[in-house]
Amino acid sequence: MALVGSGSAVPATRVSNSDLSARVETSDDWIRSRTGIAARRIAAADEGLTALAARAARACLEQAGWQAEQVDLIVLATSSPDDLFGTAPRVQAALGARNAVAFDLTAACSGFLFALITAGQYLASGSMRRALVIGADQLSRWVDWDDRRTCVLFGDGAAAVAVEACPAEQTGLLGFRMRSDGSRNACLTLAQTDLHTPLLPGVTAQQGGFAPIQMNGQEVYKFAVREVPAILAELLEATGTSPDQLNWLLLHQANQRILDAVAERFAMPSEQVLSNLADYGNTSAATIPLMLDEAVRDGRVQPGHLLASSGFGAGLSWGAALLRWQGPAA
Ligand code: UT7
Repeated sequence: MALVGSGSAVPATRVSNSDLSARVETSDDWIRSRTGIAARRIAAADEGLTALAARAARACLEQAGWQAEQVDLIVLATSSPDDLFGTAPRVQAALGARNAVAFDLTAACSGFLFALITAGQYLASGSMRRALVIGADQLSRWVDWDDRRTCVLFGDGAAAVAVEACPAEQTGLLGFRMRSDGSRNACLTLAQTDLHTPLLPGVTAQQGGFAPIQMNGQEVYKFAVREVPAILAELLEATGTSPDQLNWLLLHQANQRILDAVAERFAMPSEQVLSNLADYGNTSAATIPLMLDEAVRDGRVQPGHLLASSGFGAGLSWGAALLRWQGPAA
């Protein structure tokens, strides 16, 4: 598959670290020094995930030069859907992409990379030609705003990448790895609440509903700095790529210290490590395409550039992909 377009959308409301310190006991200094985050965007109450994802997808279609009806597949990576039955079909309808099959894929912060790899398989098999892969999350709806250990980390955003079938020798997905370890699931959860509804005499049903995000930050941090370099090293070796051939490191944006640790492992200069954490925080499934779109639009990422990407997070799940950006047809 060839990566031929990108687009993104973030809510208008910007909340700085100082703004947050009026809500919870924290400080700009603590958040910046521990995470690299300076601000995040927060979706308005009436701005759902569908609208945000559709806005990103429209920008992507425009950059790729595609009509909505030409899209065969929409994969929406999200953990914060408008509808648990699926938000991707709502996005499909909003775009008017009437020929596309659309479904959600949930793998938290690894979701975009998993979705991109999934879409790549449909294109490589020849069964589909054009796909929109969207990463979108609104974790502001699922954090406990009184829990300073988590609420300062997350923000809302959406971004999309357009991928199309191409001859194997021109592929922009040069290799990938995906992993899950559910035995460590408790490290980071957005799990069902344990709320029971008496239904009939002797019959009690579980009431649906989710508790806010809970995270063991230190465990997730240790997991990330151990597994991300390992999976990237494995991928580079399998594809015969040396770190100095890479133009960019495009990692899930969770913590600047994690980005720095991974870069150090591969001796990548900080100028080649893409980071927009300061502006948006951790937008979960959106971070990788949001960062990619910014760097494509400001000219840092150029056609032909090689990017090593890795997503990681709840599941626990993690993955890596070696990507070549092609950009829209001239
Ligand atoms: O996308 C999913 C992947 N998620 C991640 O990658 C997150 C990985 N983890 C992290 O990035 C870091 O663990 C955090 C940024 C979440 C936390 O940083 P840390 O250096 O591990 O801090 P800590 O949890 O060890 O807390 C240190 C201190 C504690 O106080 P005491 O017990 O030492 O007195 C916390 O209570 O910092 C305190 N603290 C805060 N202080 C001010 C925790 N959160 C805050 C806060 N403001 N927001």
